[in-house]
Amino acid sequence: MLTTQFLKSRTSTRDFKDMAIKQADLEKIQKVIDGEIIKLGKDDLAFIVQSDGEKVYKALDGKAGYGGIMIDAPAYLALNTLNDNPASLVKGAYGVEEIITELDKMGIGNCWITVGEVDESIKKEIFAYDKGEVRLLLAIGYPVDETVREHKFDDRKGIGEFVFIDELGKKATNEDLEQRGLDEIFSYARFAPSAYNAQPWRFVLVDDLIKLYIEDYKGNVNLLDAGIIMYYLDKLGESISMGSNWEIQPEINDDKYVYIASKQL
Ligand SMILES: Cc1cc2nc3c(=O)[nH]c(=O)nc-3n(C[C@H](O)[C@H](O)[C@H](O)COP(=O)(O)O)c2cc1C
Repeated sequence: MLTTQFLKSRTSTRDFKDMAIKQADLEKIQKVIDGEIIKLGKDDLAFIVQSDGEKVYKALDGKAGYGGIMIDAPAYLALNTLNDNPASLVKGAYGVEEIITELDKMGIGNCWITVGEVDESIKKEIFAYDKGEVRLLLAIGYPVDETVREHKFDDRKGIGEFVFIDELGKKATNEDLEQRGLDEIFSYARFAPSAYNAQPWRFVLVDDLIKLYIEDYKGNVNLLDAGIIMYYLDKLGESISMGSNWEIQPEINDDKYVYIASKQL
């Protein structure tokens, strides 16, 4: 499947079959995780799989998820950051998206779940860790509806609303992006998930540099949004041999646009 097609049909799953994840799939997932940690750095991050989904659901129902609505799944993957460096969270979200690519190949669906409001002691009990914090969960399991669902175009921002040329606020036109061979990439990058589907990412193209900002920064959840869109851009950029070496240096402040990372086109 073309990368573009694949990302277009990459949607959240919220209804899972009442069926445990097969042992062979759990082993594959662990291998993928081990590979991710080698790439991303074991001092910054860990990923923990809890295959006792019922235990997690019972402990978090009413506490995690949008408005306390927990998603019931046979298993959960937790993103555990081991330090307070904002860059670790960005890298972690990028890593989760890489893991999702492999889950998709196994026919395993997923949905991100917010756990910002949940007591650390509860998370420690269900995911058995002693270092750092669990910042986000991914519900995982076999989807009830196995048909491939495509994104609707109408719930996503137009490209000109989030891509700027030379400076923040100066909107890119379609011609600007076509000239740089970036029109398709941004058109598909719009399908990246974001918390509350807020699509807070903003890009500024300066010569051959692409800079990523978050508009109206709302905390950790936006660092996750940033890591996710970086993954989408890298995946989509493979077709034009775009670089994937992001320099991640979040500059958290109260500005309208918070700088997160940049890379060479
Ligand atoms: C950081 C983050 C946190 C999220 N938290 C939740 C959540 O708690 N509950 C939920 O149902 N969906 C959650 N989502 C899923 C998004 O709402 C969903 O990916 C987005 O609306 C796009 O929907 P789609 O994948 O169906 O196109 C979260 C997504 C992200 C990126």
